[in-house]
Amino acid sequence: MDWGLRNRLSRVLRPEDGRTVMLAADHGYFLGPTHRLEDPRETLRPLIPFADALMVTRGVVRSCVDATAQVPLVLRVSGGSTVAGPDLADEVVTTAMEDAVRLNASAVALSVFVGSAYERQTLGNLARLVDRGLEVGIPVLGVTAVGKELEKRDARYLALACRVTAELGAHFVKTYFCDGFEAVVAGCPVPVVIAGGPKSDNERDALQVAYRAMQEGASGVDMGRNVWQSTHPVAMIRALRAIVHEQASAQEACDLFDELRQPGQRQVV
Ligand code: 5RP
Repeated sequence: MDWGLRNRLSRVLRPEDGRTVMLAADHGYFLGPTHRLEDPRETLRPLIPFADALMVTRGVVRSCVDATAQVPLVLRVSGGSTVAGPDLADEVVTTAMEDAVRLNASAVALSVFVGSAYERQTLGNLARLVDRGLEVGIPVLGVTAVGKELEKRDARYLALACRVTAELGAHFVKTYFCDGFEAVVAGCPVPVVIAGGPKSDNERDALQVAYRAMQEGASGVDMGRNVWQSTHPVAMIRALRAIVHEQASAQEACDLFDELRQPGQRQVV
């Protein structure tokens, strides 16, 4: 890896422990103004100080994130299909690498839909994006997306999708936690971070998933809805940080969440 690319990657995966707590808030690119992300500026403001990196589109960066914010950007650069369209997998690259450079992105992120009708198209998107990233020194996060086919989230499928994503040159991979996750990580030669998926019934469940993922080899989390759809988003991201960076157990993280959500502690920055 060239120096610039390694340097950018180290802004996302912290050099002290190689781990990261990314905050995913790119959902509007296919979901529109989804619950609790109607006004990204308001949602993100209290959370940014606790995020190792922020995953958003260029539209949200420019309109909702202060240019003086000291948070590395992982810029979502794929899209083009929405929940209203025929197929969420029909994605193209939506942002030029030059714009990622202009925005001082630390990495760019793109979804691949392995096994879908758009497998070849989205894997081609990834390969070309990696080529462009290497030219300018920007690492690529490959997202193994499943669209509406949530049943695809098993270890056999995710191991295939993660490995293919890494083979095509992604510098790190985002996927889902699943039973047998250890094998997914073991078969992927680059760091793996997990998405949270739809909001869990309670924060304990999401913290348990994060804990298990870290125990089974994940390099961090890139969660969205389970943070900003929580009744106490700041407490939630701080509890996740305890798991990822401070070796907290799931129970210790739950206790921290309970402590931080007490009146007076809410939205502590
Ligand atoms: C969509 C994404 C989202 O950023 C991802 O799903 C993470 O958010 P959540 O934790 O809400 O699932 O990459 O493809």
